[in-house]
Amino acid sequence: MKAITVRDRAAGIEDLTVSEVPYPHAAENDVVVRVHAAGFTPGELTWPASWTDRAGRDRTPSIPGHELSGVVVELGYGTTGLSIGQRVFGFADWARDGSLAEYVAVEARNLAPLPADIDFTVGAALPISGLTAWQGLFEHGRLTAGQTVLIHGAAGGVGSLAVQLAREAGAFVIGTGRAADRKVALQVGADSFLDLGSDSLADVGSVDVVFDVIGGDILSRSAALVRPGGALVTIAEPPSVLPENARAVFFVVEPDRAQLADLAQRVRSGRLTPLISGTRRLEEVADAFARRVRTPGKTIIQVVPD
Ligand SMILES: NC(=O)c1ccc[n+]([C@@H]2O[C@H](COP(=O)([O-])OP(=O)(O)OC[C@H]3O[C@@H](n4cnc5c(N)ncnc54)[C@H](OP(=O)(O)O)[C@@H]3O)[C@@H](O)[C@H]2O)c1
Repeated sequence: MKAITVRDRAAGIEDLTVSEVPYPHAAENDVVVRVHAAGFTPGELTWPASWTDRAGRDRTPSIPGHELSGVVVELGYGTTGLSIGQRVFGFADWARDGSLAEYVAVEARNLAPLPADIDFTVGAALPISGLTAWQGLFEHGRLTAGQTVLIHGAAGGVGSLAVQLAREAGAFVIGTGRAADRKVALQVGADSFLDLGSDSLADVGSVDVVFDVIGGDILSRSAALVRPGGALVTIAEPPSVLPENARAVFFVVEPDRAQLADLAQRVRSGRLTPLISGTRRLEEVADAFARRVRTPGKTIIQVVPD
């Protein structure tokens, strides 16, 4: 089958190549999915799991990409809950070959059915960004109606979904980003916008929850904004400055079939729209990773053209 592979850790993106590789093996509780569309995270080649398996053994050449939508073509021994021919979406294990390929073997529990009226491109834009936004706001941030949330990177893949989910949950949403992100952040539902390049974070006052996707100095300066009892939640790195009398949480998204199904229902009813900056073909993955042209939202790789 055709897949994107990478072998050379030092070269990273430069080494992304279209290759012929063996069809994947369906292990116990796995399904093999014919991938129709796939998503990736621009920084994923810096993650240790992109190069080694769970035991730390070299697994190159590895196939990147952890978001997918497609059709189940094979069930591993003992696999329940999904059937051959079913449309699915979800995410591929961090430490196994990923979804930038014609076929991928995935644990069935990482996937949910993809309703027939959601196209594969949208399905591939939801899993990691949608679950990260959901888990960050509601599980880790414990955000509730009437609270105020500051969402950094509000025009990005995770941030734009977080804005929509927080708004629908009845929170007051302050989005942040670069000056050029203002329009998109307000369009997806932010009540107000702060330009991190020119506005002062301190002017935000205090908030119940900060949801950070950027890290560094922006994360550190956000700690002081969190009200007592609130939460500083980040997906970027463990915070080095902690809020007073509030929780600080760095987390990595976890697969959850029920939450994926809930996200799909929101998409169907028009309450949630993933921001897709464009679609590319498998042969264009290296270019898509390099993001020479930066536009808001996620780039989706159409493995099978729509
Ligand atoms: N821990 C987890 O479970 C988890 C899950 C998903 C993603 N992540 C990580 O979270 C990060 C965000 O993911 P994403 O998919 O949302 O990425 P994304 O689509 O690139 O969104 C990030 C947004 O933040 C903006 N931004 C970044 N640095 C900024 C700065 N210094 N000032 C102002 N705006 C800035 C970006 O603008 P520009 O594009 O102009 O830079 C973009 O709009 C990535 O590093 C990803 O690896 C972690």
